[in-house]
Amino acid sequence: MRTSTFFLLSLLAFSAPILRADEAADAQNAKDALVVETLIRLEKFDLAEMPKQKAAVLRQLEANKETPRYLELAEQFSIKETGSELLRLALEKSPDALGVGAARLLLKLNGSSAVATALADKDDRVALKAVTAFGATQDKAAIEPIAVLVTDKSRSGTVRNAAVKALGGSPTGEQLLLAVVKGKKLPADSNFSAASVLLSSRDPAVKEEAAKFLTLPPGSNAKPLPPVAELALRKGDAAVGKAVFQRTCIACHKIDGIPGVDFGPALSEIGDKLPKDALYTAILDPSAGIEFNYEGYLVKLKDGNQALGIITSQTDDKITLKLLGGTPVKYNKADIVAMEKQATSLMPPGLQQAMTEQELTDLVEFLSSLKKKK
Ligand code: HEC
Repeated sequence: MRTSTFFLLSLLAFSAPILRADEAADAQNAKDALVVETLIRLEKFDLAEMPKQKAAVLRQLEANKETPRYLELAEQFSIKETGSELLRLALEKSPDALGVGAARLLLKLNGSSAVATALADKDDRVALKAVTAFGATQDKAAIEPIAVLVTDKSRSGTVRNAAVKALGGSPTGEQLLLAVVKGKKLPADSNFSAASVLLSSRDPAVKEEAAKFLTLPPGSNAKPLPPVAELALRKGDAAVGKAVFQRTCIACHKIDGIPGVDFGPALSEIGDKLPKDALYTAILDPSAGIEFNYEGYLVKLKDGNQALGIITSQTDDKITLKLLGGTPVKYNKADIVAMEKQATSLMPPGLQQAMTEQELTDLVEFLSSLKKKK
């Protein structure tokens, strides 16, 4: 470290002017923030040998609790002591970005032991939250123990089925689930969940293989639909369509006034953009016209992990990928072996199979009613 920087750091950490309590707290906070900023700019340092500066970092963490900044600081300084707070955030805030971000960071800092403990919790509520939070990270260190849960008959059906769902969407997870299905190890009460996951996979090979073992969930729309031009002439019930949207689409789309995940484009004004026939096509054949800036990328990492998502930003050395579930994840370009642009949309085909023909018409009626407020 350069002497001048070290001097500045020492000065910041040691000086203590006399102030009133709240002023003193503000001043301390400002000083700590500056120490942190200065440390971030240093190329190399070992916080373990800098107790004063480490204390400043820990105070900054405390001051930024329950915010994205907390995660940034914990990651930047690899603070392992944040483990229990990260676990709490992961369990309580998922599937929000903060919760999933915490889960991901916990895996990075402390490995898979925290996941194993949370998944093994005999309280179903804890285990369910752990499945959601860690599943959404798409990290192998989480996906693998979740896949083990799928066949663990000592667990309730609710937990096992949540594990099945959590494997959907991640290429690694779907392969592991497919292996369980092909090995005839899937408990019967998970057939429905596994069929929903694998038969709506984006990967045609997974879908085809799964179809040999699983059948479409009963009640789904298996009969062929009339042509789009004919569907587009129908009138549906927008109120029913809204409920269908909330059931099937909020996992990836937001609409003003309806909480949803920020993964695909927001659809608040989609009725202005797409006429009914185009809305049908967008649902029935998502890959027909992939929205600009929402193309999918499969990122392969040196450590064997793979992640599928949408690139939201890039710098010289980092790339930010928005994973299914909406969590933005930063990767160092140096850790990436390959980045494969996907020819198919990240929106899965076949979503209409989870609704009746009438519900599909209602859904399109609802979407086409979404227009800019004048
Ligand atoms: C797994 C995530 C996912 C789910 C679930 C999903 N979508 Fe999408 N959707 C996307 C992504 C990603 C895009 C952008 C890529 C593309 O255009 O294909 C998209 C694009 C769209 C578009 C085109 C938007 C535009 O501006 O052109 C429409 C319309 C749409 N989705 C409607 C729906 C509806 C309705 C549902 C529920 C039946 C749904 N989506 C479910 C991920 C999803």
